[in-house]
Amino acid sequence: EIPSFQFFEKIGSSNDAALTWAASGAPDGALVIADEQTQGRGRMNRQWVTVPGAALAFSLIFRPSPQEQEGISLFSALAGVAVQQALEKTFGLPAEIKWPNDVLVNGKKLCGVLVESVWMEARVEAVVVGIGVNVAPSSVPAPEMLLFPATCVETEADRPADRLLLLREILREITAWRKHLLSSVFYQLYSSRLAFQGQWVKVSQPGDQITYGRLKGVRTNGCLLLESEAGDEIALTIGDVHLRLG
Ligand code: BTN
Repeated sequence: EIPSFQFFEKIGSSNDAALTWAASGAPDGALVIADEQTQGRGRMNRQWVTVPGAALAFSLIFRPSPQEQEGISLFSALAGVAVQQALEKTFGLPAEIKWPNDVLVNGKKLCGVLVESVWMEARVEAVVVGIGVNVAPSSVPAPEMLLFPATCVETEADRPADRLLLLREILREITAWRKHLLSSVFYQLYSSRLAFQGQWVKVSQPGDQITYGRLKGVRTNGCLLLESEAGDEIALTIGDVHLRLG
């Protein structure tokens, strides 16, 4: 099922290893997995801490088909959906997707996704999808917690969680949903598991820009849709969603 994989006990970032491998011919579906990352990276240039033994950190390499090229931004949604589904089905957790692809349980983050692309002649040659899941509680404070409260699978499920079993379930969901990436079933699932639907949110974007609005959903291309106080529709392609308090 998985044509090829690389395992590292300790590495800078599994996404960096995957980008290098992608540039030197890694096959579609290739997997890089790391027990510990010393330079783990998050979205918008943030740091991501991977505690050995407590986290699941891996990167997948996809070679998009000509058809998938049309919905290339959906690979990011695919990762969020796959983790959401794995947590819902395997652990019975009420997991939700915080746009574009963080996974929350009970309002706290337990998974982040970093998607990066390898371009060649104006076309995406490979997509690297990096997934980090907090599996077991850790005593190391996560810097990303300052931005959003964090949790882990074992705390939420109230039982031990096997990292490899979770990895297998996530890979299974990715393989299954990738076939439906451009179809309405995928779009409906992504929409239905979106956190903060109908609520007033604040979206912070690079360059300290902040947009306020009521969260309406996503477009089929993965854009976030807000409605401004004046009733205008706003579509966003990047940012961090927070509930607007007060
Ligand atoms: C985020 O929430 O900002 C995204 C975090 C993504 C973390 C994963 S862990 C595996 C892969 N390697 C990295 O350096 N980052 C991603």
